[in-house]
Amino acid sequence: MLLEIDKLCVSYGKAVALEDVSLRVAEGEFVAVLGPNGAGKSTLLKAISRAQPSTGRLDFKGDSLQGLAAHQVVGRGICHCPEGRRLFPELTVLKNLMLGAYLRHDASGIAGDLTAVYSLFPILEERSSQIVSTLSGGQQQMVAIGRALMGKPSLLLLDEPSVGIAHRLKMEIFDAIKQIQQRGTAILMAEQDAQSALRIADRVYVLEHGKIGREGSSAELRSDDYIRQAYLGVG
Ligand SMILES: Nc1ncnc2c1ncn2[C@@H]1O[C@H](COP(=O)(O)OP(=O)(O)OP(=O)(O)O)[C@@H](O)[C@H]1O
Ligand SMILES: [Mg+2]
Repeated sequence: MLLEIDKLCVSYGKAVALEDVSLRVAEGEFVAVLGPNGAGKSTLLKAISRAQPSTGRLDFKGDSLQGLAAHQVVGRGICHCPEGRRLFPELTVLKNLMLGAYLRHDASGIAGDLTAVYSLFPILEERSSQIVSTLSGGQQQMVAIGRALMGKPSLLLLDEPSVGIAHRLKMEIFDAIKQIQQRGTAILMAEQDAQSALRIADRVYVLEHGKIGREGSSAELRSDDYIRQAYLGVG
């Protein structure tokens, strides 16, 4: 198992944000976490990347991540594309992308990964010397995903990659994310667009009020009455 989480808990002061969350991601698997605003999705991804302290089992490739600093987690092969993108708006596309490779020293590997990011998002190559703040929201999301890929992750954490993005670009971004998986990277994606998540992910967990409610394959959850009513607006 690539990522193995068991009884993970996170509190903000007295407020419990995650309670006994258990979840797994296999090598190369695409897993989505669905849930409404405030459910704890971002908190879960932050706990995995050690940006937020937690208790419970948090194992990656058989070793615990508990106690590691965030940059050490990146070094183990987990890269986080955070909520709200967190880019450097005054820097160029290329500079933002290269910041994702800050821990690496393999120049030829970095160059190869830059080529791979450009093949995934050709617009970024065209705009490589453009200042990020002048890009559209969808293009900025592509930069954020590309930057995370420049860390050469074996597990990519994506926090609501489609939020606030026009429909056509959103479909393009989901297609690119699927391609990232097909190139061999496992993905854990928090998302509120249930329809898209259930279309492209292999497996889905539903997080509500800090707890995992349902879990199953995308096909199973697509035919689950509760999911259809609460998340897909049908039935
Ligand atoms: N830094 C913080 N300090 C205190 N409470 C926080 C903090 N960050 C999140 N919370 C609370 O923890 C709970 C989970 O928040 P989280 O951001 O993980 O939810 P989310 O599922 O990502 O929501 P959204 O879909 O709106 O992004 C919420 O009740 C939120 O108010
Ligand atoms: Mg969030």
